[in-house]
Amino acid sequence: MTQNVLISPSILSADFANLGADVRAVDAAGADMIHVDVMDGHYVPTITIGPDVVKALRPHSKLPFDVHLMITPADLLIDAFADAGSDIITVHPDAGPHLHRTLQAIRKRGLKAGVALNPATSPRVLDHVMDCVDMILVMSVNPGYGGQKFIPSQLAKISELRRMCEQQSHDIILEVDGGVNPQTSKDCIRAGATALVAGSAVFKGAGSLSENIAALRGPVSQIKAA
Ligand code: DX5
Ligand code: ZN
Repeated sequence: MTQNVLISPSILSADFANLGADVRAVDAAGADMIHVDVMDGHYVPTITIGPDVVKALRPHSKLPFDVHLMITPADLLIDAFADAGSDIITVHPDAGPHLHRTLQAIRKRGLKAGVALNPATSPRVLDHVMDCVDMILVMSVNPGYGGQKFIPSQLAKISELRRMCEQQSHDIILEVDGGVNPQTSKDCIRAGATALVAGSAVFKGAGSLSENIAALRGPVSQIKAA
């Protein structure tokens, strides 16, 4: 694999009192997308960001907004997140009610449609919707919180999904989310990930934002060796 992995910093680990400044900072530091974790206190225990915050952040960066909906049901809010300036909207199939309909609704707004798989969710859930999917997000932690430990069993799932993506005639971004740091990122890239979400490792990592982002990509030689 020679392509460069996309880095999508999760603003869940940013300073919520200074989100605009933090979005500008990761943009300037070399991020490829901005990952927005939307939680409803129902599908997951916490409440985070709504469409108005996405709208308020939109002028702060031209990077794609990679909006991860951990809400149930998702359909009622697709238009609001599209209007707010999302570029990719990702939903959880078990958040229901009808995955195929939800993906169609996202694409109808001209956005990329993503499906997020929890650690216990099988890739089989995608078998009959692959033609409607632009991104697959592999959760390598259980959804709901930043700062959790990467679950290694997800690496085999990433490899399997990579094979499934390669059988499609259209491009699908294969993104990994949760516990991604400069060590686990290498395993994800080797397994076939093409995009990585990182909250703690970017905003609370050891170096500057640009060093932390660069550390996730790893040396080009390692990517090529995959
Ligand atoms: C968890 C979120 C993740 C989270 C990742 O539900 O989907 O995007 O922010 O945080 P880290 O990188 O700290 O594991
Ligand atoms: Zn996320």
